[in-house]
Amino acid sequence: MQVVSIINHKGGVGKTTLTANLGAGLAARGKKVLLLDLDSQASLTVSFFTPTEWAEQLLPARTIKHWFDGLDTGEALSTPAGLVATPRRVHEKLRRSPGQLDLIPAHRDLSDVDTMLAAQLLMNPERFVPLHSRLRAGLGHEAFADYDVALIDCAPNFGLVARNAVAASDLLLIPTKPDYLSTNGIDSLGLKIAQFVEEFNARSDDRITRPPAAVIFTMVQLSGDRPIETQRSVMSRIEAGNVAPFATTIRDSKAVYGPAPEYGVPVILGGTGRAQTRELRELVSEVTERLDGVEGMAA
Ligand SMILES: Nc1ncnc2c1ncn2[C@@H]1O[C@H](COP(=O)(O)OP(=O)(O)O)[C@@H](O)[C@H]1O
Ligand SMILES: [Mg+2]
Repeated sequence: MQVVSIINHKGGVGKTTLTANLGAGLAARGKKVLLLDLDSQASLTVSFFTPTEWAEQLLPARTIKHWFDGLDTGEALSTPAGLVATPRRVHEKLRRSPGQLDLIPAHRDLSDVDTMLAAQLLMNPERFVPLHSRLRAGLGHEAFADYDVALIDCAPNFGLVARNAVAASDLLLIPTKPDYLSTNGIDSLGLKIAQFVEEFNARSDDRITRPPAAVIFTMVQLSGDRPIETQRSVMSRIEAGNVAPFATTIRDSKAVYGPAPEYGVPVILGGTGRAQTRELRELVSEVTERLDGVEGMAA
């Protein structure tokens, strides 16, 4: 299995929308995809399940929070495979595809878990490696060996839970709006990731490699078929920087992206917006090509 994190410490840049569409697009191409919702706001979860399904069926026992249960007291991880849920509406859409889309839902209290584990780390710095290896260890479990790819939707911060995602990842995708403030953070995120990997490896015999990263421009405003001038200049600045962007960009389209979560079917499968669907498919191709070049985690 290959593990991809969709990460940016800024909110509202399209992480969740991208995760949902990439996951559904890869599944439509026959891949077995596991989504992980690491954001306590649960936007990814409620893009596939109704809020009632989440509250009644998933929150009590099937969430990412349960994956982290017991970590504070040093308990070993029991199999996280029981946390997986299959969203019915997408499952219907994928009937004729050999692909599969499953999700491990978010929990409202996930940000408390993050804070609590960070406090643990302050008191017991020697627990750095186990505290940051919970996702990595679990995703390597044989129960997940049948999945081709896991996509992790991160919360808009770079806390301990997001660092768990980085430690588990073979590739990082950084969605970014092409405006000055949004792009300003890319280099600082890159630096934090590099520092984290360095510290992890200094403390662990089981080394991790810094995952390669790619920027994906989202909410691009087009004039004709080109980005507007102000965005174009930001985009060229990033192209010249350290984290290369994908060639495919995602256009700004509130009318198409806004309603999709309520229907439980991402735009790429939903049949609305021809141009939007085309660019999402191109993005799935570009991600697939990139994944062909990176080695996955050994199950
Ligand atoms: N390409 C897009 N064009 C217009 N609106 C978008 C686009 N992608 C996402 N959105 C909307 O922007 C808001 C934030 O998107 P979201 O994916 O939740 O971002 P994040 O996960 O980074 O916080 C949502 O209301 C979503 O519907
Ligand atoms: Mg989100």
